Amino acid sequence: MSKPYVYITRQVPEQLVEPYREIANIGMWKHDDLPVDQETLEKEMAEADGIVTMLSDKVNEEILQKAKRLKVIANLAVGYDNLDLKVIENRGIVATNTPDVLTEATADLTFALLLATGRRLIEADQFVRQGKWKQWSPFLLAGSEMNQKNIGIVGMGRIGEAVARRAKGFGMEILYHNRTKKEEAEKELAAQFCSFEELLEKSDFVVCLTPLTDETKGLFNKDAFERMKQTAIFINVSRGAVVDEEALYDALVSGQIRAAGLDVFQQEPVDPNHPLLSLNQVVCLPHIGSASEETREAMIKLCLDNVTSVLQGKPPVTPIR
Ligand code: DGY
Repeated sequence: MSKPYVYITRQVPEQLVEPYREIANIGMWKHDDLPVDQETLEKEMAEADGIVTMLSDKVNEEILQKAKRLKVIANLAVGYDNLDLKVIENRGIVATNTPDVLTEATADLTFALLLATGRRLIEADQFVRQGKWKQWSPFLLAGSEMNQKNIGIVGMGRIGEAVARRAKGFGMEILYHNRTKKEEAEKELAAQFCSFEELLEKSDFVVCLTPLTDETKGLFNKDAFERMKQTAIFINVSRGAVVDEEALYDALVSGQIRAAGLDVFQQEPVDPNHPLLSLNQVVCLPHIGSASEETREAMIKLCLDNVTSVLQGKPPVTPIR
């Protein structure tokens, strides 16, 4: 019997793929830093039994119409707003994501953004490099500390809880807003459940980790920023579209809030002329939430485990639903 065919839409290290070549013929896109072009994606979609997609691939109805043999889509991310799940389900295709393996790396990055914005690390680095450091002074680049501050976590999933554990270690009070209450986190971390509005009003650091859905699109709008403290720092490690970027820019420029740390943008890669990038009080990252070597390797292996399980007639390891 011939082996099934699997396509990976980016080039990933051969040593990670090699063990799976016994089970499937595996092809991949020729670049590790450029997305697959539309023509190739359409051709591969038509031929593949399984596909590993990136969060930057839009897997919509149009492309899925080409997928005549496709049985499984493994998305290399915990978020899956790039997949049209309704169409995928209707076509009887299994979809999987990569939860758990990226929790700690993403929580680390979230906390790095809290520290970088709170203590103005990027501004300070540039200050030194630009030769502006002429003398020491008491309030030179003074920022906000973590100890005894309120962190408000919007979206208390696995990553939210891992951020809360770090926050507890830094002496912070933990507030959270989530669709369901998290009794364990309340017991273990003394986390307090709040309404969205109450969280915005009470938090010194507002951290957005909620998935992008129809309900959360534009959740952080003018009204949300107006409710925040003037000293508040806003962190987004979820998806750019959860935020109204114009409202965020206005809130920062008018001093409605103090700073922002952004790993994600509405349009990625972000335009270098985007207004938010002109502000010193904004720390910008290129969507690297889970980008540690260990985690990216684990994510790739999990995707290949998911694809090959389904193609061998076994249940997927981490199905989306
Ligand atoms: C995810 O997995 O959804 C993250 O955004 C990747 O960094």
